[in-house]
Amino acid sequence: RGVHYEPSDVAPRRRDRFDGGAPAPTSAGPSGDVFRNAVDTDPAVAAHRAWARAVTGPDSGFVGVQAPEVTDVATIDDAVARAVRAQEAWAAVAPRDRARVLRAAAARLEAHRTDLVTAMVHEPGKTVAESDPEVSEAIDFASYYAQSAEQLEQVDGATFAPDGVTLVTPPWNFPVAIPTGGVLSALAAGSAVLAKPAPPTPRCFEIAIDAIHEALDEVAPAIGLDPQVARDVVQFVRVPDGDLGQHLVTHADVARVVLTGSIETAELFASWRPERPVLAETSGKNALVVTPSADLDLAVADLVKSAFGHAGQKCSAASLVILVGSVGDPSTETGKRFRRQLVDAVRSLAVGTPAELSTVMGPLTEPAQGKLLRALTTLESGETWLVKPRRLDDAAAVAGIDPERLWSPGLRDGVAPGSFFHLTEVFGPVLGIMTAKDLDEALRLQNQVSFGLTAGIHSLDDDEIAAWLDRVEAGNVYVNRHITGAIVQRQSFGGWKASSVGPGAKAGGPNYVGQLGAWSDDTSVV
Ligand code: SER
Repeated sequence: RGVHYEPSDVAPRRRDRFDGGAPAPTSAGPSGDVFRNAVDTDPAVAAHRAWARAVTGPDSGFVGVQAPEVTDVATIDDAVARAVRAQEAWAAVAPRDRARVLRAAAARLEAHRTDLVTAMVHEPGKTVAESDPEVSEAIDFASYYAQSAEQLEQVDGATFAPDGVTLVTPPWNFPVAIPTGGVLSALAAGSAVLAKPAPPTPRCFEIAIDAIHEALDEVAPAIGLDPQVARDVVQFVRVPDGDLGQHLVTHADVARVVLTGSIETAELFASWRPERPVLAETSGKNALVVTPSADLDLAVADLVKSAFGHAGQKCSAASLVILVGSVGDPSTETGKRFRRQLVDAVRSLAVGTPAELSTVMGPLTEPAQGKLLRALTTLESGETWLVKPRRLDDAAAVAGIDPERLWSPGLRDGVAPGSFFHLTEVFGPVLGIMTAKDLDEALRLQNQVSFGLTAGIHSLDDDEIAAWLDRVEAGNVYVNRHITGAIVQRQSFGGWKASSVGPGAKAGGPNYVGQLGAWSDDTSVV
């Protein structure tokens, strides 16, 4: 598990963004009172905004996915057969030469940065401000897994055998970084890959695959890889969910499945492939604890960033804050101040079109339904809305977004232990407040959930921090910073408990590649 101490270097401080004294916006925001954004007069920022509009707005010339959807079993069988043939050739390429391909892929991904950002804004509706760093994360995966591949070669007397044909099925919420990381880690291990996009985000993945193909084309002659075979080392297979998806997942020649998705999908895959490897990163129900010793300004800023980035559609998102002692008690000055600041911060988030650089919270990727719709519209016993989510029909019409997808953020108070909102991942822009009399109780509430992906604490008391670190049950734990946006190599990413299925090494960290195969003498060091 990784423990991450960091100053909150990105989140704005209250006086900059959340203060009522911020200058008035020059134009009306799409969502009225929710949109209250400070004016930026810096010419560099203005230029950046103009770039963002040009590459992601309606005139960006975005074209969707090019590959046709697979409609029959024969096409899947053919792709798997070609992957099996490519597997042998790819596994025979020396790890250091596979690393060359990954480094070339890093450069090709950089060359496609703008296309990738455009696709992310258009397909899942991710904001420009979050899409651009996601391209960097994909590039970081390429560079990091290139190192991992090289390390496969450094073990004397032991040889590494890759799993073989690997199916990578990523989610739509990180539609570039997670797919790219999945494909490149398997390639680093020496496996041929079938890349199945999430249905809402095929173009994002397709561009990344194009970049990887360009890298294979570029490096293949120098490493003695047949250019035709190189094309089959990675295949983009646009297989829909349902029966055809099941055929692919259960195919006898698919040696390994790497899934990032919901716990329900992970359980389904595991039931379809009993005894055969599935590596799955799944859901989270993540809480940030705030104690009376915390820097409350920082805690508010980090909470808002953790809860409402990408409209809360992150497995890593904070959907609960557990307020300890006086911070949670609304009859104390600290308790009053914290809620006031949090409400102010949530209400002042810029909500609207993802193409605008100033937008902090864009649309949902798909219309709210099921658990999320319940969380956006219904309170449980004892709960109240401090900020009630609203469907922003007018703003959606202005931005050309399906109104079912554009919601303002919600903040619910009084979430009870054991309730629906305490224990259920809703994957959307709703943050719930719980209170605890002390750190012990906060930890019990935090650990009561079945998942264990991310967790955070805001405290300036070393003893509190040490006690919390000792007992919190989560894969990625963060002290005095936001709890999303893990950085490759520095904060390798992965969960405990129901958040993870299969072997345990974390993405973007040591031995992630090493677990995608086996050492002849059972040593595992990469
Ligand atoms: N790695 C992402 C994060 O840390 C989640 O997949 O937010």
